Amino acid sequence: MKSLFTAIFALFSISITFSQQGTPTDYLSADFHKNQREALRAKMPEKSVAVFFANAVRNRANDVDYIYHQDPDFYYLTGYKEPNAVLVIFSEAQVTASGNSYNEVLYVQEKNARAEQWNGYRLGTEGAKTKLGFNAAFNGKDFLNSGIDFSAFDKILYKEFADDYRNDPRDSADLFDLVESFKTQTGYYLPVEQNNTAFPNRELNTSSILPKIRANLDAKILKTAMAELREIKSPEELALLTKAIRISAMGQREIMKAMHPNMSETEIQGIHEFVYKKYGSEFEGYPSIVGAGNNGCVLHYIENNKLKVGDELVLMDLGAEYHGYTADVTRTIPANGKFSPEQKAIYDLVYEAQEAGIAAARVGRPFGDTDKAARKVINEGLVKLGIVKTEAEARKYFPHGTSHHIGLDVHDPGKYETFEANMVITVEPGIYIPEGSDCDPKWHGIAVRIEDDILITPTGPVNLSAEAPRKSAEIEALMQEKSVLTDFSLPGLD
Ligand code: GLY
Ligand code: MN
Ligand code: MN
Repeated sequence: MKSLFTAIFALFSISITFSQQGTPTDYLSADFHKNQREALRAKMPEKSVAVFFANAVRNRANDVDYIYHQDPDFYYLTGYKEPNAVLVIFSEAQVTASGNSYNEVLYVQEKNARAEQWNGYRLGTEGAKTKLGFNAAFNGKDFLNSGIDFSAFDKILYKEFADDYRNDPRDSADLFDLVESFKTQTGYYLPVEQNNTAFPNRELNTSSILPKIRANLDAKILKTAMAELREIKSPEELALLTKAIRISAMGQREIMKAMHPNMSETEIQGIHEFVYKKYGSEFEGYPSIVGAGNNGCVLHYIENNKLKVGDELVLMDLGAEYHGYTADVTRTIPANGKFSPEQKAIYDLVYEAQEAGIAAARVGRPFGDTDKAARKVINEGLVKLGIVKTEAEARKYFPHGTSHHIGLDVHDPGKYETFEANMVITVEPGIYIPEGSDCDPKWHGIAVRIEDDILITPTGPVNLSAEAPRKSAEIEALMQEKSVLTDFSLPGLD
């Protein structure tokens, strides 16, 4: 018996060792997450408690779920990548009955050998302590009756619930149960006003302390505080974000070499995403957009199902996600390697607009200045080309904003007020002229967006995606280069 146990134990340790060997080590550190919790605590009102929930597991079909992705705020504050978890942060230290003090608690998925055999390793409470640096870590089920006396706080901070998840009957401490417990303990379901009938089927206990607790619930403070924290990137974040952006620029470079008119939109998407994986990026930060010709006029076109891109411009808006941080880079290139005169006129106008936008991305200037600068160039240019009669009309061909923050979200939170050092934003003007537009048909079906990821620094904007060429002549030159994919062919399936 003994030797069998020894053998099993030896096997077990080998497999653990193997599974941890050769995995990336450049994640955000436990200290980073701890520092962000400290920074948040400094923004919390006195006598307050903040409660964050992990992202929901979402079902794709039958017994298959979508790949799990942690809520960015939760990840930012914990580094925890699993579902069914709660983070509680107190503005001041709390003291247990035995005299121990703590100011934050992480509730995690309980370890479970069977669940882990099917769905992978769980960190558990010990991992939360040793790997993530939490002093106080418990299982999710402990949150259900956590003993947090919510009546002791002047403010109970939380983020508005999407309420778009299932209640898994096999798990008594899944997200549904955790949120329901919080709502019950805080009187969330009580009517705010007497005539509120939002929850007619709930039993309301208005005789208890709950109405007082309910009055202290606040869903706004955390949203603002997290936006203030996340809009400024630390050096650790910048390293990961820069890597995601450079990987995405490499995808654009590779496709510039590989592109030809017989390619499908799907194949083009696949080349970008293959390059991402080759560089170790886990995901795309958002569904990849590859639209040839008129398809590029749909701003978030993700069907990507045109079989041959032909002689059209191909608009490619894709971003690698590396360790949680996502790029957002768009290039628009002629599938046959050469811009037609009309394509070039529109392309070069968008390029000039983008140059003006990037130049406006300077510390101290209002966030709206990149849009103002880019829009001015496009408005004037479209009038000059005779595509619109007045500048006011131009908005229909440039219907979106020019800049947003990027980070853990592709549309990252922020105050969106003034540019500050160590923000990373997009500058992404575009012109989209759908078939049937009220202008000379020679412009129809032309769609151009150029999008770069810009680091704001005290000495001016730095283009982190500059490795992907932007100038029309530079794109044409790179498209002449041979790609390793040119000679890559697979057998037919006939
Ligand atoms: N890829 C989405 C955007 O550019 O905002
Ligand atoms: Mn984009
Ligand atoms: Mn964008």
